[in-house]
Amino acid sequence: MSLLKNKKVIVGVSGGIAAYKSTFLVRLLIKAGAEVKVILTPGAEEFVTPLTLSTLSKNPVYSTFADEEKTWFNHVDIGLWADFMIIAPVTANTLAKLVSGHADNFLLTSYLSAKCPVYLAPAMDLDMYQHPSTQANLNLLQQRGNQIIPAESGELASGLAGQGRMAEPENIIRFIENDLSSKLPLRNKKILITAGPTYEAIDPVRFIGNHSSGKMGYQLAQRALNLGANVVLVSGPTSQKLDHNHLDLIQVTSATQMLDACQKHFSEADVFIASAAVSDYRPKNIATQKIKKSDTEIQIELVKNPDILFEMGLQKTNQVLIGFALETNNEIENAKKKLQKKNLDFIVLNSLQDQGAGFQKDTNRIQIIDQQNNIDSYPLKSKKEVAEDIFDVLLKKMKL
Ligand code: C5P
Repeated sequence: MSLLKNKKVIVGVSGGIAAYKSTFLVRLLIKAGAEVKVILTPGAEEFVTPLTLSTLSKNPVYSTFADEEKTWFNHVDIGLWADFMIIAPVTANTLAKLVSGHADNFLLTSYLSAKCPVYLAPAMDLDMYQHPSTQANLNLLQQRGNQIIPAESGELASGLAGQGRMAEPENIIRFIENDLSSKLPLRNKKILITAGPTYEAIDPVRFIGNHSSGKMGYQLAQRALNLGANVVLVSGPTSQKLDHNHLDLIQVTSATQMLDACQKHFSEADVFIASAAVSDYRPKNIATQKIKKSDTEIQIELVKNPDILFEMGLQKTNQVLIGFALETNNEIENAKKKLQKKNLDFIVLNSLQDQGAGFQKDTNRIQIIDQQNNIDSYPLKSKKEVAEDIFDVLLKKMKL
């Protein structure tokens, strides 16, 4: 999934021949799932039509301060709406106006109102690009926090060859994606997560299991991925799905398999989150043949399963450990004891008091308790939002 998905993007286009390439840029942004609003300078309209860009962006295109009915467009609202702005191409003229703070067209006023990151993809003839004025303007704009996507070298509209061509739309997209990813707070961090139930075999066709859907663990994994982490998700049997370049999904069945997988990855992990509902016991012996029905009662002898979280707590060096607790009585006290016993940094206490919380549900109500016994209580929320809350606490309280 592209980091551009659901991003709100202003594409500003100024008046140079490279404006035709902005149509491809808009297409690529839309394809990546971004929401795009295009602003043209009066000069850009000579090179590319508002109709082309409104069709591609699926939004009205702005080029004047008001529409034909003299209704004023609010450049402040548009500037504040955007997650980021990209001016491609930015001509020598528009560059100079950005530097001086001119505000004589809608793109310039929107630029001045925008608080979001701004990317600039210059395009001009090679001599204009090399001119000390242009280079000084680019440097100044960079110092002020704008990101410059350097012009590329090649044949130019003038017939000359050199540096000045606007970066290809694919390269602009790559530049922005790399920049967005470099700012993600869990970039280069490894997060190990357990999710779902475990099944403990009785015979070839029967098992001891539980109703865990895995939803919470998969939402946690998704959130960690969105924050830029590399995720190892050790999952018991579930119908949940997740696919991502930075995801290593290890499917297991039993608690011992889950422990083995965690052991392999724990030493390199920065964070371990145990959200799996691990079966506390397993049959001592697994029958090799299906157990036949008989008239007498049968006994299945159970032995204790390893407590995966406790084991990781013993091996903890600098990992952050987060566990879950589901308690029926003395919730807070029992959760605090578990926090200490398992050597955790946080424990997430699931509510049993709420209709909407718990196994199989899409919602959860949690309290997060830390080592200092601070308790953060949250209302009933979707498991997606709960995952966001858990990572917010992690990022706020831990130096990762
Ligand atoms: O002790 P209790 O089962 O209540 O602890 C729950 C927490 O411990 C959860 O985070 C769960 O994923 C983890 N756990 C585990 N291995 C077990 C049992 C629980 O990792 N065998």
